[in-house]
Amino acid sequence: MIRCVILGYGFLGRRLAKELALNRVEGVKLVGIASSKGHIYREKGFKSSELPEDITRASDFREGSSLELVDGRLADLLVELTPTNIRDGEPGLSHIRRALEEGMDVVTANKGPMALAYEELTGLAEERGVMLLYEATVGGGMPLISLQKRCLMADELLEIRGILNGTTNYILSRMHFEGMTFDLALREAQMLGIAERDPSLDINGIDTALKIVILANSLMNARRKLSDVKVKGIRKVTSEAVAAAKESGMAIKLIGTASEEELSVAPRLIKLGDPLCIHGTLNAVNFKLRILGNLTIIGEGAGESTVSALLNDIREVARARSG
Ligand code: HSE
Repeated sequence: MIRCVILGYGFLGRRLAKELALNRVEGVKLVGIASSKGHIYREKGFKSSELPEDITRASDFREGSSLELVDGRLADLLVELTPTNIRDGEPGLSHIRRALEEGMDVVTANKGPMALAYEELTGLAEERGVMLLYEATVGGGMPLISLQKRCLMADELLEIRGILNGTTNYILSRMHFEGMTFDLALREAQMLGIAERDPSLDINGIDTALKIVILANSLMNARRKLSDVKVKGIRKVTSEAVAAAKESGMAIKLIGTASEEELSVAPRLIKLGDPLCIHGTLNAVNFKLRILGNLTIIGEGAGESTVSALLNDIREVARARSG
């Protein structure tokens, strides 16, 4: 039985804990959950009815560092879900690094460590012979990374282009269809629970840039950093510009691009019939491949759908470890 701990007990952590406590992945037992305040460890595992809403209120809650769940051979698999930090990737980066050093497999939805320290972390995982899976960092539940690694690896990926941020797509869609103001549309996106804790990361294009770096490094074998991405957000997109685009049969979308030549994020005019021209909170990503040509994937790129990607990565670990 694989003993799993979840570090980060926000929306995703709670939702995933529920699935694991209901034994949705055979061979995996949830034994620990941690927030920034401390943790709970139950060797026997959690039943779904025993999962607390607030872990600090549980009788076996222990104050202290989340790392206590990673040190000391208490678990075999770390699921790292602490909030994205673009300055230094912490605390997620230390959690993942330590777990890999301890010989644990890691599954994460945390964009910070994977964008800032991709080479170091994947190198460490390889050196220790453990798995590091991060499908949930990009496009929520959309299987972008596994799709390329499983089904397209023999072809050559020339360009990745698409809408990778649900919050900005929602704002631009509300401005386009309802003529809503930027600020009101942003408030709505925050209420939907898809915006980052600091929504300027969405609006300034940084969230999309992180995802473009992760995709370029993992799918195109690039060795790029966040500072290599030319980033322009949507803050300066006016209602007038959105209306003018609409008049000409187009929509303004925040598009991330990765190719050998450049990595960029910027608002672009997209024709209304283009496969990338999807609206609301949806994401859409186009892979341009040498032989296959263009392949576009559309789906929910944030929120609950991300749990699907996390469960799939966890199942992947379980399958590999069951021999
Ligand atoms: N804030 C992100 C978005 C969440 O709006 O797409 C998913 O990475």
